Amino acid sequence: MQVDTGFTFVLFGGTGDLAMRKILPGLYQAHRSGLLPAAGRIAAVARGFCNREAYIQWMHTHVRHHVKPASDDVSWNDFLERILFVRIDLGQPEDYTVLRDTISPLPGIRVFYLATRPSLFVPICRALACMGLSNGARIVLEKPLGYDLKSSSAINDAVGEIFEEGHIYRIDHYLGKEPVQNLLALRFGNALFEPLWRREWVDSIQITIAEELGVEGRGDFYDNTGALRDMVQNHLLQLLSIVAMEPPHSMHTDALRDEKLRVLRALKPIELCNISRVAVRGQYYTGVLKGVAVPAYVTEHGVSASSTTETFVALKVEIENWRWAGVPFFLRTGKRLSDRVAEIVVNFRAVPHSVFGSMTLRNSSNRLVIRLQPNESIRLYCLAKQPGEGMNLQSVHLDLAFDEFFKEDRMEAYQRLLLDVINGRLALFVHRDEQEAAWKWVEPILSEWARLGTPPRRYAAGTWGPAAASALLARHGTCWLEEEN
Ligand code: BG6
Repeated sequence: MQVDTGFTFVLFGGTGDLAMRKILPGLYQAHRSGLLPAAGRIAAVARGFCNREAYIQWMHTHVRHHVKPASDDVSWNDFLERILFVRIDLGQPEDYTVLRDTISPLPGIRVFYLATRPSLFVPICRALACMGLSNGARIVLEKPLGYDLKSSSAINDAVGEIFEEGHIYRIDHYLGKEPVQNLLALRFGNALFEPLWRREWVDSIQITIAEELGVEGRGDFYDNTGALRDMVQNHLLQLLSIVAMEPPHSMHTDALRDEKLRVLRALKPIELCNISRVAVRGQYYTGVLKGVAVPAYVTEHGVSASSTTETFVALKVEIENWRWAGVPFFLRTGKRLSDRVAEIVVNFRAVPHSVFGSMTLRNSSNRLVIRLQPNESIRLYCLAKQPGEGMNLQSVHLDLAFDEFFKEDRMEAYQRLLLDVINGRLALFVHRDEQEAAWKWVEPILSEWARLGTPPRRYAAGTWGPAAASALLARHGTCWLEEEN
């Protein structure tokens, strides 16, 4: 359903890093593409500037260059016409009268986007309710939503007293990425893969989100968070649930979320008595990344010199259901790794009997590699006969590079998700139950690591992480895909 009566989009944290790099550029892109309803205003809330002019100046200098592809003057200035600025101190409930007075006369639906620290989520919601602004409004909650199950449930309970679940949009920006949508298309738009997408034919699955970036000025936040909370509890488990879910009966919100939730609830608890064999945590020290020397994590700004926070995690995960019993899912994420890549690798089983004799097979497995970023692609590895005498088989691949096939501009994740909020589409947002199921699974790992107190394994920046992450797969007779290339 497309909104045509107008909207007011209130952005709390209007001068924050996320507003600057993602939210405002995403709204601009939606505006430029003509998809943002014409009668819509954006009210940026912050206390750092004294008036709208100063805020608009900040947008020129700090936001505009984050717009990709670059903005043109006409549409940029047109976009700025939508911007209102509200100066309030978020911790002062009486300040919210200014917000009420600014937005009350505006027609259409209301969206409150909380791009602030989570400790402000509940006070903001309560202040909105006090001002009578919450009725019928939508609320968007950025991650991290809490620090563990208890704190996340406390936020969900408090927000849930004011906004009903159908109006709460919990963002996981990975769900807004075009390639993640394509994963749904690949799985459920094609009959080809479905019969093979199960334990009888799949040997193992790898899901990697590797980053070259370090903590990028967020040392303080990251040092209290770590890779398991920052990436695994949300992005990686969401990807896993899409890869492993049963076909939903439709693309409707509840159908999709219910199937993802079933996967999260079927995750086999990690065996704590043997945790180092199934869960590896690492932290980078100095190294060279793409020819440039990079500092150790513990010397990054905002990070404690004696920090034992993990910047890398690799896990062996199993799903307890008929489709996946016994198939290992290897998850991996880390900062300052050798390359920026997010991909899913489905390793199929070898043929039950080789008619060519074992000596002729150089590489016996079929594999499907779904590259999410950069350069979205799907690659299917098969065996083919090498030209010439004899019957020697070699691994070859069929490639689909999406950029070559589709020439249209891609929609950025935030652009898509922001439009979804404005248009009331919840399917690509995380339900409370999913979030809590993910915390329930992750929490024992965090507790066990804390109980053991073992420091993370060290890895040099610019590598693929600690050797123990390779050992995880070696025990299953396989290896991470990059290490083969
Ligand atoms: C965020 C994490 O959710 O995702 C960051 O907090 C991480 O630490 C980022 O860098 C990765 O997102 P993307 O889209 O760049 O892969």
